[in-house]
Amino acid sequence: MDIATNPTTPDGNPELADAAPTPHEPPVIRREDYRPFAWLVPSTRLDFRLALDATRVTATLTVERNPAADASPELRLNGDSLTAQSVMVDGAPAEWRMEGPDLVVTLPGDRHVVEVVTTIDPSANTQLMGLYASNGMLCTQCESEGFRRITFFPDRPDVLSTYAVRMEGERDAFPILLCNGNRVAEGEGENGTHWAEWHDPWPKPSYLFALVAGDLVANSKPFTTATGRVVECNVWVRKEDLARTDHALESLHRSMAWDEEVFGREYDLDLYNIVAVSDFNMGAMENKGLNVFNTKYVLADPDTATDADFDAVEGVIAHEYFHNWSGNRVTCRDWFQLALKEGFTVLRDQLFSQDMRGEAVKRIEDVRILRAAQFPEDAGPLAHPIRPDSYREISNFYTATVYNKGAEVIRMMRSMVGEARFRAGCDLYFDRHDGEAATCEDFVKAIEDGAEIDLTRFRRWYAQAGTPRVTMRQAVEGDTLRLTLGQSVPVTPGQPDKLPMPIPLKIAVHSRSGALGAERLVVLEDEEQTFDLSIAGPDPVVSVNRGFTAPVVIERDLQREDLVFLAAHDDDPFARSEALQELAVGHLVGAASGALSADDRQAGEAAIIGAFRSSLADNALDDAMRGELLVLPSETYLFEAMAGSGAAGERKADPGAIHAAREGLKAAIGTALARELAALHARACAVALDHPEGRGARKVKTIALGLVAAADPAKAAQLAAAQYDAADNMTDRQGALMVLCGLDTPHRETRLAVFYERYRDNALVIDKWFTLQALSLHPDVIAHVRKLAEHPDFTLKNPNRVRSLHMAFAGNPKAFHKADGEGYRMVADVILALDPINPQTAARFVPALGRWRRIEPGRAALMKAELERILAAGNLSRDTFEQVSRSLEG
Ligand code: PHE
Ligand code: ZN
Repeated sequence: MDIATNPTTPDGNPELADAAPTPHEPPVIRREDYRPFAWLVPSTRLDFRLALDATRVTATLTVERNPAADASPELRLNGDSLTAQSVMVDGAPAEWRMEGPDLVVTLPGDRHVVEVVTTIDPSANTQLMGLYASNGMLCTQCESEGFRRITFFPDRPDVLSTYAVRMEGERDAFPILLCNGNRVAEGEGENGTHWAEWHDPWPKPSYLFALVAGDLVANSKPFTTATGRVVECNVWVRKEDLARTDHALESLHRSMAWDEEVFGREYDLDLYNIVAVSDFNMGAMENKGLNVFNTKYVLADPDTATDADFDAVEGVIAHEYFHNWSGNRVTCRDWFQLALKEGFTVLRDQLFSQDMRGEAVKRIEDVRILRAAQFPEDAGPLAHPIRPDSYREISNFYTATVYNKGAEVIRMMRSMVGEARFRAGCDLYFDRHDGEAATCEDFVKAIEDGAEIDLTRFRRWYAQAGTPRVTMRQAVEGDTLRLTLGQSVPVTPGQPDKLPMPIPLKIAVHSRSGALGAERLVVLEDEEQTFDLSIAGPDPVVSVNRGFTAPVVIERDLQREDLVFLAAHDDDPFARSEALQELAVGHLVGAASGALSADDRQAGEAAIIGAFRSSLADNALDDAMRGELLVLPSETYLFEAMAGSGAAGERKADPGAIHAAREGLKAAIGTALARELAALHARACAVALDHPEGRGARKVKTIALGLVAAADPAKAAQLAAAQYDAADNMTDRQGALMVLCGLDTPHRETRLAVFYERYRDNALVIDKWFTLQALSLHPDVIAHVRKLAEHPDFTLKNPNRVRSLHMAFAGNPKAFHKADGEGYRMVADVILALDPINPQTAARFVPALGRWRRIEPGRAALMKAELERILAAGNLSRDTFEQVSRSLEG
């Protein structure tokens, strides 16, 4: 809600209405308002007296006037729900005042020592920001603005300080005491306490501070760096989890070696600690020398984690490790620059995983994520550029746009200059900005200078939101193909006018005769441009955006036969899977809009079935790639395709029709290929767990089951129950249970019960048990979820559990979009109940409802009404208020 549309203030004076935000309207922070902080904080000393319900913190800051900032006698220290017990300046009681949550001290000179004492209650901290308790241990989360919940401090990323920390607590409760950097001293205290002192030599912003105290054990293995330094690497967990930490530790070692080899980056401390905690808002956190991880991204063994879980652990371990350079050594000037560290680090972890597991499949997975999570964001009310211009609550900007599109934007630069020049640009960036808080502009400039490329126009990718649409026309002239490419960037909230952006596209012109054309890179700079390409043979077929060089939507009308050709023959595996997706999207959107004649429908189905049949029969494919070719586009992506560019008057997405069309196609495939799918399933079941082909086999096994289930539920129930019973690993077990969960069969209940009994003491696996039921295709999902929310194992206090049930439900297109709005109501109720407990997590549910404008009018009205109900409840957190109000405005 805009202030201007508010009712006037109580005294009826309309002028006062825009004087200041009401308490419900947190202020807007703008990028253009950035000013350096008036004071430097060269060193910080923290003293913690640890206890679960009352921890005393003494913070001692050495402060100096910042010559680069406007002089101010006032030192503003941010706080959040803190009360100061004492404030001293240079050893004497000082004059100070509170301004809202912040503490302000007036300082007469150029250099002072400021000491502040606060006491906090970690056990009451349900937001999981600042210092909090998890399973009896104490840990911290400070990014973005959590440090100010521990002590008063200039809590902004451009204030770098070296930290010396002392902590003391009961030895029994907290036998292990960890912090950033190196441990420099430890000893016994009085009354069963002990203490440790830590020192981090690298200056860092407060968001990278971390402390952990608890009863933990480590899996350790030293890593020797390229220059021969030995780094002690530890993965700290609760004793019962120790056996599941090898994969994380090995992944860390692989990441360290890869960053040396590929980016020339070496680790810079003698110690690298990772701690797993079960209560965590996000995936993990890159605190200097002391990463704190969600257990979900540390613990893995074949009995409790799927192959996908193993990959996720490897990817997140790598991501946090890579932050040591892209994030910690070079950090962000302000939070608008978040993509500087996140986009770059996601690209780095993607490239790492490509090298570990194979480029094609990883690229297909990453593009699938981008389309399922980022494209909808870019097309909705919450759309923002990868470098936003304003926010009310920065936690709301840890988005797929900043992370995943941020990575794509940097990947485009890399594609345009090639690996070697990109590396030169990165080297220059690290050289220039090591030890600094930098901006996205600094990064682009370093690539520009180091890789020798003009990125003037390319910078628009940082400023403009919205997924560009690229149109394509072709004409043959002799042995030349004239390709005319056009681009437009859709209107997004606050950005009515867009400029064209350089779009690098890898293209090849094949011939239907079978001759494959050479690949070349073109860069579409203008609104429209024509490129002349040579033809490899008769009936040219253009393969475009190969490897997904640009995060755009290609709009073209390719003949079905051409897509079938590309799906079977393209030499770029990504383009091959893409052709199949395009074929399926065209067919399914047509079917869902009721635009297909019976003949068209049949022909479309036949083409897709034919393509699936070829993928099943193609012996040159391995199962990992075959699996990718057998996955239909997600319903979320189909919504996007159906709702088009979002222009007024365009078609709206109809979730019910999309679901029906997609299930219908699955059934047709399952029926037509019943024999082949059964054979595939049987073949895959015969591959042993640790066979080199085992992973691929497990992947296609469950995909085959899913297709059989759509066609012949009784047969699928039997196969799935047998797969479940024979399983010697979580991938097979979860896959079988997923299929069973969607079916009306007694096997569903029995296997769910067996699974629960087997894993009742393993929280991460019980999360899966909740998720499988919340995500299922079963007609009674809503009733199941209501009942599960009452289950003794369910709690709103643990984010993993909340996500496992409610986030999964919000991502279940069929159940969430139930036509009577019951799914929307449930999600709105979750937001309202969760907001006072954990606002960050509550706000993450809003985008699901925020998509209402692109959905057909009946459901749209119901979704909007739920958003209005949330807003009317009042007293919302900054997080939820911002997301809901933007969703109603946009
Ligand atoms: N910076 C973390 C990462 O990307 C994510 C994170 C953000 C974690 C905010 C906690 C809080 O690795
Ligand atoms: Zn990150």
